[in-house]
Formats: sequence, structure tokens, C-alpha cells
Amino acid sequence: MIVYFSGTGNSRYIAKSIANINKQKLINMGELLKYKKDLPENPSGIYVFVAPMYAWKLPRIVESFIRREKFNKGSKAYFVLTAGLANGNANKSIYELCAEKGIECLGCACITMPENYIALYSAPSPEKEKQIIAKADKAIISFAKAIAQNKPFKDTPPSPMGFLLSTIVNDVFYKFIVKDRKFWANDNCIGCGICEKACMLNNIKLVDGKPKWLEQCTHCMACINLCPKQAINYGKGTIKKRRYYLE
Ligand SMILES: Cc1cc2nc3c(=O)[nH]c(=O)nc-3n(C[C@H](O)[C@H](O)[C@H](O)COP(=O)(O)O)c2cc1C
Repeated sequence: MIVYFSGTGNSRYIAKSIANINKQKLINMGELLKYKKDLPENPSGIYVFVAPMYAWKLPRIVESFIRREKFNKGSKAYFVLTAGLANGNANKSIYELCAEKGIECLGCACITMPENYIALYSAPSPEKEKQIIAKADKAIISFAKAIAQNKPFKDTPPSPMGFLLSTIVNDVFYKFIVKDRKFWANDNCIGCGICEKACMLNNIKLVDGKPKWLEQCTHCMACINLCPKQAINYGKGTIKKRRYYLE
């Protein structure tokens, strides 16, 4: 069973590709979160979790989802993280989480995908985006093969300073940056409700036809990147930035 969390499509793309190659069941964790559901039964006991890298770690929302789910004895899991840049030392906390849940971790891989975090960085140009995805496509095939044969992955090694990035920097990031008060919608907003629907945490409500953020944001960037009118911004820094969403 392949379970993915994805704000802007990268992790869904990888999860779908692996599911297509291996003919495995695909589950959208975002929907489970939105509708407060649990993972369905998984008779094989083998999970493939695909998620973006957030501040050099598995997103906290994904970690807490896995933490509260029940897994049968003998369950095994692969982790595939999609990252705009690097993986820090994300593997360490994933192995710890698996140990806590009695899951055997069969490996943590990090695949570079286009950057989606336009609140702080810029998405690549369409040209560059194509190149990055073409490179990722090659990596996916080898990971899918290993998964099909139940073989462990070779973990992606930590990046330089990974220890600091995935601990102190991650903590500071969540404490000070992962807030929604800088999101706003300008007059181009047509009140279509796409942002409300896309928000996996039900953190957006339309009030008088405009989105209102309710302080439970995880910065997945779905709302800002999906808005068909480019009406949503984060502070002023995103006004002229290219939006990124992989269908
Ligand atoms: C809140 C947030 C934090 C991020 N932190 C990192 C990071 O630490 N390292 C990195 O390489 N990319 C980082 N990124 C980029 C994403 O991991 C990357 O673009 C990912 O493929 C997005 O996946 P998605 O489209 O499935 O949501 C971050 C993106 C967001 C939204």
C-alpha cells in the first residue's frame, strides 16, 4: 500500500508512479486527514510512505498521523521523501518513529523534485522543472523495483550539517515560520473555494467570499499554488513569483 501526503503534487506524482509500476493500492493521506479517517486494512503489512521534506524532516503532520495509527505486528515500511534541495538527516527520526511503532523500516530515500516553497524560495522555471522531473523519473524506477521485490533501499545519506538542520533548525522553523498569518487574498479572488477544498487541515474557510486562515496551517503551499487567479499571497514576497503545482 502506497500512502502519500502532498501539498503541490510532487509526492503524489512519485507515489502514483510507483503504484502504477507495481500495481499497488494508492492512498491519499491528505484525504484521511481532511475527513478524519484512519488507514484502511493492509493485508500485505508493507507500506510505502511518500511525503515532502519539510525543514529537513518528515512533515510533523505526517509524523503525527503515523504515530496515532495502529500497525499490525510484522509491518514494514519504505519512506520516500521528495525534496527541493536536500534531505538533512531526516532518516534518523524516521527510523526512530518506526521503532516506536514496531515497524521495520526498509529504507529512506530522498528524491529531488521542483521546489514548491514559494513562501521562502522560488519555484524553478518550466524548463528546469522538466529537467528535474525527468531525472526523478529515472530514480523512481529503481525504487519501484526494490519495493516490488521487498528489498531494502539504500538510504540517502545525510547532507552536510544534516544533524543541525533536522533538529535545531527544524524546531526553530516550526516555532517561528509555520504560521498562517501572512497569507492573504487580493481583489482577484473570486471566492471559488478551491483553496478551502484543497486545505488538508480544514484550515481555510470562506468568509464573505474570501479565504480566512484558521491558525492550523502546516505550510503545505497548496492554497497559494492552486489559486486559479493567483490571488493568494504570503506577505508581499510572492506577488510576482511563479506558482508551482504538478498535476
Ligand atoms: C514547509 C516546507 C518546507 C520545506 N523544507 C524543505 C527542506 O527542508 N529541504 C528541501 O530540500 N526542500 C524543502 N521543501 C520543498 C519540498 O520538500 C519539495 O518541493 C517537495 O517536493 C514538495 O512536495 P509536494 O509537492 O508533494 O508537496 C519544503 C517545502 C515546504 C512547503
